[in-house]
Amino acid sequence: MTSSPAADLSSALEGRFDREVCDLLARFAEASAELRDILATAPLTNLLGATGDVNVQGESTQKLDERANQLFTAALSRPSVARLISEEEDEPLEVGDGRYTIGFDPLDGSSNIGFAAVGSVLGVYDGVARNSFAAGGMTGRSLVAAAFTVYGLPTMLVVASRSQVSTFAFDPSDRSWRVAAEGLSVPKAAYASINWTYRSRWSPSVVRAVDAASDGLRGRYSGSMVEDILRVLLAGGVFMYPEDSSSPNGKLRMLYEVCPMAFIMEAAGGAASNGAQPVLDVPVTAPHQRSPFIAGASDAVARYVAGYAGAE
Ligand code: AHG
Ligand code: MN
Ligand code: MN
Repeated sequence: MTSSPAADLSSALEGRFDREVCDLLARFAEASAELRDILATAPLTNLLGATGDVNVQGESTQKLDERANQLFTAALSRPSVARLISEEEDEPLEVGDGRYTIGFDPLDGSSNIGFAAVGSVLGVYDGVARNSFAAGGMTGRSLVAAAFTVYGLPTMLVVASRSQVSTFAFDPSDRSWRVAAEGLSVPKAAYASINWTYRSRWSPSVVRAVDAASDGLRGRYSGSMVEDILRVLLAGGVFMYPEDSSSPNGKLRMLYEVCPMAFIMEAAGGAASNGAQPVLDVPVTAPHQRSPFIAGASDAVARYVAGYAGAE
């Protein structure tokens, strides 16, 4: 039995985004394919381990964080872009006077490098002025597109517009990204993803909320948000990274982790909250601002929000 090959990335995205956003998504996909190759041989090319530097987040930088940052910075420096905000750069990089601001996490899940799936995250923000952060902020509602890759087998790319989420699988035989699924909608919650070892650091309202959201679900936590969010999108569930006594605002960063994933989750009919309100409505006043992040099937997120407010 033969089947016709699934549509490739550019034909699947044409018409869903303007030409410039299609170009940015294509560049992100190309750089992701390149990073996938680099990751596949990293144990053989002396690319594992730390650089010895510490990034603006206070985290030790891995050689692959740095390599991935160079790759995506080059790929996304386009005429349509005004600035690039990378997890690995202290300050936004002003690249031109285009209409888009890009947030990206070049390598998500660094603690899994060399062992398990890692990924990359992209957010394309429309019309965010240079002084927005200082002048009262902007919100994740300025996103027009978001995407992330998971470098596993299969290597997957997820792309969302405001109303539609598609997945693509990388075909190494011709280095193309081909449609795996279109019009994704988050299934009812099945899995709960959270780092349970932090329980002693949670406030009573977080304990109540996590217990309410996880009730009846099975636990799966990888340490790579990209992998856990992909599972939530495809198999149903809820991902939670709440605030705790060591990270009073949570760990994940709004512009290149939380908002792009929240945008994807809402576009797939799910929900994303900081516990008190939809994260996409929260003003962002600093490039590396953090937020608690709860995202997934609407029923589970609603249980978290109710538990957090004390209603459980
Ligand atoms: P990054 O590797 O970009 O710094 O992000 C890691 C994030 C995220 O991928 C993951 O969900 C979380 O950190 C894991 O943190 P804990 O080890 O605290 O659970
Ligand atoms: Mn990350
Ligand atoms: Mn990272």
